[in-house]
Amino acid sequence: MNHFLDIHKTDPAELRKIIDQASATKQARLGRPKAALDDELPLKDRMVALIFEKPSTRTRVSFDVGVRQMGGQTMVLSGKDMQLGHGETIADTARVLSRYVDMIMIRTFDETVLTEMAEYADVPVINGLTDRTHPCQIMADVLTYEEHRGPIKGKKVVWTGDGNNVCASFLHAAGQFGFDMTFTGPAQLDPEEEFMGFARSKGSTIQVERDPFKAVEGADLIVADTWVSMHDSQSSKERRHNMLRPYQVNDHLMSHAKDDALFMHCLPAHREEEVTSAVMDGPQSVIFDEAENRLHAQKAIMRWCLGA
Ligand code: CP
Ligand code: NVA
Repeated sequence: MNHFLDIHKTDPAELRKIIDQASATKQARLGRPKAALDDELPLKDRMVALIFEKPSTRTRVSFDVGVRQMGGQTMVLSGKDMQLGHGETIADTARVLSRYVDMIMIRTFDETVLTEMAEYADVPVINGLTDRTHPCQIMADVLTYEEHRGPIKGKKVVWTGDGNNVCASFLHAAGQFGFDMTFTGPAQLDPEEEFMGFARSKGSTIQVERDPFKAVEGADLIVADTWVSMHDSQSSKERRHNMLRPYQVNDHLMSHAKDDALFMHCLPAHREEEVTSAVMDGPQSVIFDEAENRLHAQKAIMRWCLGA
């Protein structure tokens, strides 16, 4: 049994196996109806709990569909409707759920909720986003990059804007998959040193460049995310927007990257804020492939967790 808690906590060879399996099972399903079962049914007779303490479209639907395609069943739970939201400890919740279900995916605020859940559960626990990281998203993003451009190893990724949870998992992936990363954004929103330090300790070149035009020089991939994350207070919105406006990804910024640079965004996006519609809907954008690949990457992650 394996938990999938974060990219830096999973062995690089295992991460590579997950990506390869995601790619193979995606190919095997090409042209089939979305509700068709896979050839193999590795989750047959398995029940998966999907717990959400924050809103979600992609994570919720892609996990649910993925489990069903693999022959399993799901139970989608809202944190606030559970006793979890009314004082029952995480440890007790983990022990109880382990008596009913074979795997738990949780999207939560504080990452200690995730780590405690994993510590006390007898079944695998998957991180569906916390305030600090979003590993399933970046597994899908690595798969997406490699489908379009081949191995991500040695490439230059530029993260624009807020050094948030998705950026943190990208930095973990830089270390584990061997690519370089430049962060460009205001100093107040730099990624935590811990995340950059991890990637550097694995030999990746990690840079911080305040000038977005200098940052994207030679970039193979440019990534943006919302300027106000679900865990950020709405009262900080105006201040954040003012700080982040110079980092908007638009055609002018894209023209300073490599000609074949890709654009990614985990979505949901705020059009004309962190990125223009021209870029989102333009030829370099692979945002909807990323969204699709959540399904394929997570199916492989779930199989890895269960050894199935
Ligand atoms: N990218 C992502 O995790 O989207 P949702 O918030 O819709 O799940
Ligand atoms: N950084 C965003 C990602 C949403 C998928 C958030 O945490 O709200």
